[in-house]
Amino acid sequence: MIIGIPKEIKPAENRVGMTPSGVLELVKAGHTVYVQSTAGMGTDFYDEDYANAGAQILPTIEEVYAIAEMIIKVKEPIEPEYKLIKENQLLFTYFHFASCEALTKAMIEQKAICLSYETVETPDRRLPLLIPMSEVAGRMATQEGAKYLERTYRGRGILMGGVPGVPPARVLVIGGGVVGTQAAKIAAGMGADVTIMDLNLERLRYLDDTMPANVHTQVGNEMRIREAVKENDLIIGAVLIPGAKAPKLITRDMLPTMRQGTVLVDVAIDQGGCFETSKPTTHDDPTYIIDDVIHYTVANMPGAVPFTSTLALTNATLPYAMQLANKGWVKACKENSALKLGLNIIKGDVVYKGVSEAFDLPLRSVEEVLEQA
Ligand SMILES: NC(=O)c1ccc[n+]([C@@H]2O[C@H](COP(=O)([O-])OP(=O)(O)OC[C@H]3O[C@@H](n4cnc5c(N)ncnc54)[C@H](O)[C@@H]3O)[C@@H](O)[C@H]2O)c1
Repeated sequence: MIIGIPKEIKPAENRVGMTPSGVLELVKAGHTVYVQSTAGMGTDFYDEDYANAGAQILPTIEEVYAIAEMIIKVKEPIEPEYKLIKENQLLFTYFHFASCEALTKAMIEQKAICLSYETVETPDRRLPLLIPMSEVAGRMATQEGAKYLERTYRGRGILMGGVPGVPPARVLVIGGGVVGTQAAKIAAGMGADVTIMDLNLERLRYLDDTMPANVHTQVGNEMRIREAVKENDLIIGAVLIPGAKAPKLITRDMLPTMRQGTVLVDVAIDQGGCFETSKPTTHDDPTYIIDDVIHYTVANMPGAVPFTSTLALTNATLPYAMQLANKGWVKACKENSALKLGLNIIKGDVVYKGVSEAFDLPLRSVEEVLEQA
């Protein structure tokens, strides 16, 4: 198959769809890979690295889209890319269609085959191409939180691990899924006193068994959160209710009860945020302060660590990309139910329920489309 890796053109996006080592595996399997010149620069991968892995370098994004049967990238295409996409071209990337009608309409019009990373789902209901970014965001939430606790940033001026004779910082993680677990693990490693709150008792049992001794678990409810916000120095919001907006677990009236310089990191901001006072920020200006409480609410946290994020993403996407390249999308999706669930739009037909519902578009059965393809 002919595969294209374009440079990401969405503002502030430094990741790239495939690492040189991923390209090498695709080339070894007999595929031809075209990489746009400087596509990997934001991640510290250079044209020479891709060329050494067997890729052919093309100077412009137009040439990459024009030649490729499958495009592998990171973010959804943005407006200048719409017209570059060809009929029958397979696009393997994050789309988040339900949040953008213009993108959905454009992909229908271009008659492309859109396979979305975020809806690839295994039979045990895991989202293998979302997990790596949650892992990055979770670990980063603690790293950023620890930084903003410093007095220079108007934080409480407390060291995560304390020192002998001085108690450590107290960290509350609300939501014990992928993000929350990784956030708690890093906070525990730094020596903080950590509490994970979740509604799922089974999950809390598992965390209690596997986490270090300085991590405690608690079932979350409003009264406990009201008490906990008074005592914790860093509070990380990491809840998810699939397909719904995040619930507002910390409300405006709780802010004056917190200690001056408390840091709130709302990782769930991409689902609307789980703190009432959260509004999305960017890496250029990541925080704001209300009632002396610091809010960190960056919607694309992994974008700040493109090296780690690109490697983590390629580790997860490569096995799927390989199946698509080796078998073609029809056979690969027929044989792998996780990949099949990634299909959102096929040659103008919407085949994913969430997308059809979001914009009141007709829904076709994916099985029927696959049979006729
Ligand atoms: N900002 C970013 O850059 C970024 C990056 C990755 C993920 N995220 C977001 O982080 C959030 C968490 O993602 P995840 O992968 O960890 O999800 P997950 O499904 O693995 O975990 C969510 C957890 O929240 C718990 N939960 C739900 N409602 C709760 C409540 N009211 N109180 C306490 N716990 C509750 C669930 O039981 C579950 O354990 C999502 O909103 C996701 O979109 C943001």
